[in-house]
Amino acid sequence: MRYPAIEVETLAGKVAVITGASRGIGKATAFAFAEAGAKLVLAARTPDDVENVAAAFRQEGVAAIAVPTDVTQVDAVARLFQRTLETYQRVDILVNNAGSGRFGPVVDFAPEDWDSVLDSNLKSVFLCAKHALPSMFAQGSGQIINVLSIAARESFPASSAYCAAKAGALAFTKVLAKEGRQHNIRVTAVLPGSVHTSFWDEISVHPDFEQMLKPEHVAEAVVSVCRQPLGMVTDEIVVMPPLGIL
Ligand SMILES: NC(=O)c1ccc[n+]([C@@H]2O[C@H](COP(=O)([O-])OP(=O)(O)OC[C@H]3O[C@@H](n4cnc5c(N)ncnc54)[C@H](OP(=O)(O)O)[C@@H]3O)[C@@H](O)[C@H]2O)c1
Repeated sequence: MRYPAIEVETLAGKVAVITGASRGIGKATAFAFAEAGAKLVLAARTPDDVENVAAAFRQEGVAAIAVPTDVTQVDAVARLFQRTLETYQRVDILVNNAGSGRFGPVVDFAPEDWDSVLDSNLKSVFLCAKHALPSMFAQGSGQIINVLSIAARESFPASSAYCAAKAGALAFTKVLAKEGRQHNIRVTAVLPGSVHTSFWDEISVHPDFEQMLKPEHVAEAVVSVCRQPLGMVTDEIVVMPPLGIL
């Protein structure tokens, strides 16, 4: 007995915009897309870092451009997609991965830290989706993957802004998914548990790095979503270390 074959999405030649691509999960995701034959647009704030990653890909024969971008800034995000269209004429995949955390109890938490966390984890997702959608509408296809966090579902002390931002981004993702459906745009939230990256550099109390996920684990989840069979949508994936919440 044989199952009927189903057509899966191929990533060869697809144009993938990845934010926060200079290190950590975003950089690992860029490697995973490059291996799958995608063309890359890499964004992060620090020009040298993101340009070095793109240059290393180009040396390997991978089509990759770096566009230094602060994804909290509307003009910068507009330029990111303008450069993408000038270079590749389309946007097939957007991975909203850039984000940062600031932590502390509510009573001590600075309002400017609140704004920074909300802007980098929530506003950024809105701005990038908003600027990717016109091309995806015109093409009649697209995939948007929002790398959120288990903090979108679970609450952690001293993490009010981060939890609120990620929960807000999850709610936003669900609305985007509904708006995208009629245009054949598939939208997925990826919720990782702890991942061993520079995200933890400034956090003095943290779980055991040895027990955390590697960035490549999350990258694998992102790319596997983008390879999902045609005719289905994956709304949400939770990717956890084997021991769960650490
Ligand atoms: N590490 C974890 O345990 C963990 C767990 C769950 C979810 N996440 C989420 O996964 C995503 C990636 O985290 P990571 O662990 O890979 O962090 P990371 O190692 O600190 O990397 C963050 C990346 O985002 C960029 N970035 C930060 N703010 C930006 C901004 N405003 N505009 C553009 N780029 C910006 C950084 O480059 P520049 O600084 O040069 O801009 C860098 O490329 C984040 O959304 C994070 O919340 C992380």
